[in-house]
Amino acid sequence: MKHWQVNKEENGIVVAVLDKAGESANSLSAEVLAEFAQILDQLDTYPPVALIVRSGKAAGFIAGADIQEFTQLDSAEKGRELVERGWNLFNRLAAVRYPTLALVRGHCLGGGLELALACRYLLAVDEPGTKMGLPEVMLGIFPGWGGMLRLPERVGPAAGLDMMLTGKTIDAKRAKKMGLADDSVPPRVMEQAARQLVLSGQPRRELPIMERMLAGPLKRVVANGARKQVAAKARREHYPAPYAIIDIWEKHNGNALVAPELVDGIVRSPTARNLVRVFFLQERLKGFGKDSAFRARRVHVIGAGVMGGDIAAWCAQRGLTVTLQDQGIERIAPAIKRAHERIGRRIRDKLQLRAVMDRLIPDPEGAGAAHADVVIEAIFENLEAKHALLRQLDAVMRPDAVLATNTSSLRLEDLRTVLQRPERLVGIHFFNPVALMPLVEVVAAEGGDPAVVQAACAFVRQIDKLPLPVRSEPGFLVNAVLAPYMLEAMRAVDEGISPETVDEAMLAFGMPMGPIELIDTVGLDIAMAAGQQLAGGAEPPRCLLARAEKKQLGKKSGQGFYAWRDGKAQKAAAGTPPAGLAARLVKPLIDRVQNLVASGVVADADLADAGVIFGTGFAPFTGGPLNYRKGERP
Ligand code: NAI
Repeated sequence: MKHWQVNKEENGIVVAVLDKAGESANSLSAEVLAEFAQILDQLDTYPPVALIVRSGKAAGFIAGADIQEFTQLDSAEKGRELVERGWNLFNRLAAVRYPTLALVRGHCLGGGLELALACRYLLAVDEPGTKMGLPEVMLGIFPGWGGMLRLPERVGPAAGLDMMLTGKTIDAKRAKKMGLADDSVPPRVMEQAARQLVLSGQPRRELPIMERMLAGPLKRVVANGARKQVAAKARREHYPAPYAIIDIWEKHNGNALVAPELVDGIVRSPTARNLVRVFFLQERLKGFGKDSAFRARRVHVIGAGVMGGDIAAWCAQRGLTVTLQDQGIERIAPAIKRAHERIGRRIRDKLQLRAVMDRLIPDPEGAGAAHADVVIEAIFENLEAKHALLRQLDAVMRPDAVLATNTSSLRLEDLRTVLQRPERLVGIHFFNPVALMPLVEVVAAEGGDPAVVQAACAFVRQIDKLPLPVRSEPGFLVNAVLAPYMLEAMRAVDEGISPETVDEAMLAFGMPMGPIELIDTVGLDIAMAAGQQLAGGAEPPRCLLARAEKKQLGKKSGQGFYAWRDGKAQKAAAGTPPAGLAARLVKPLIDRVQNLVASGVVADADLADAGVIFGTGFAPFTGGPLNYRKGERP
């Protein structure tokens, strides 16, 4: 066999090791599944004492189905075959008479978890890389290989649906606690523990009575509750898969094959096609910087404001040692406090939190600049101030360290004039809020050093963001495409359409936030400045001018287009948007994306789509603005 090794041990236990040929991670291609069926055939003839399924990869257990195969489903027949393949095979695995165990170390996702769920026992290895989940919904599809049947059976309907509808993953300890894993053990005892458990005859933990009620007489109530939760986040016409998951669980006990019209409606939906596209776009962004050997250990950030403070905190959270400089300790303290609050919400373990905070070092004198591998400048948007700072940095920094600016609107070509080696300056442009926005634009200045750009991309990957290389032009990609969109939204307000109605039009289109609320969030002063730079001399909208004059700057001042209370915009009921409003608002955005591709600010149309999706949240089910214009839409 090409992908599996089968070893029979003296004790009669058979160990099937998946080590997919030619790949660094395991995925369940048609070929891999066919070989697994052969293994089961053999074991039917010569039944083993027990079967252990494990991975031969350092990377993890199994990452899921082979997503490349999803792109080849050009008929309803092929879609059904794909579902059938895993559904039947894993039913067969679940029904064998000898005991079976999945030894799960590292990622165990999608089809990988469905395989593990079909084994009698699941043993999770407790280490940071171990993550279990059914993320199919993020690709616009459902876990059709038994996940919709077995996960709720194993952990109860509430937890099972939650995992399937959000796609979130859980670690080994949590998996044990909720009953997904029978046990969670450290790596050094996993071999022994696997053999003991598979031979133990230990019955599966029964679901508590309440969970059994929810899966039985109260199934409808649970399903309706889940539908409500989904509806609050995703509209059915944009994201049909989560609704289908609930239907298939409720009405067909997790078996998608009895509802062929549902299968075809989901598997070949434009949404699924586009989300698979977005998945591959994301992989492409992850590839930037792969060729660079650059690895950072220390980062120095100057400017502890909105951006610098959060960039520093993010880097510390990702394992780097960070020094944070500002004009005085009293400017740094609030950033550290904010970091502690935010990171504390994510990391409950006190020691771990302590370790992160210990890596975030206030540095009012700027001593860290001389030792850092990466220096990020995030001070006021002012050329003279930045010049003075860059000159100082240049004098103390290591020659091999990356020097980056987070500027949104100053030209790198102007900033770098004070440097001895101007070609060393690169833009690393984060978005606000740093912790939530996955994209980071890496800005190459005219004549900049390509190796520095590569290193910057590698750094961005190192801190788990998605790098997008862009050329140094006003607004780069993301702000440049948002500006005409926001402008058009404000023109609509000038015409008398209420901000609520404008926002509603774009929410219905599939944006995560309406453009007017976005302007309030960014700040009306910033929108004003960006408009002056990016609107090509157009008159500023009256609604913006009037509010900016009254110092109504949006969320940060408590009042903008909306009043803000407890971080939330207070909106009145939206009217029904006039026909064509969404198309009108999105048109200037898409036009600008096309221009920027044509002028080479971003290398190609796919990367532009990726940048706009991950940098603005542009409706992912459309596959991106240019893909949407091509007509690939639900
Ligand atoms: P901010 O005003 O919140 O913070 C700037 C900080 O820099 C202040 O704490 C100030 O004390 C400090 N500072 C000023 N001069 C300094 C000096 N010479 N030495 C040390 N510290 C100094 O500004 P914000 O919004 O964080 O912006 C910073 C940079 O990030 C700007 O270049 C801006 O264009 C860029 N940016 C801002 C975004 C935003 O949404 N606010 C988004 C992306 C980039």
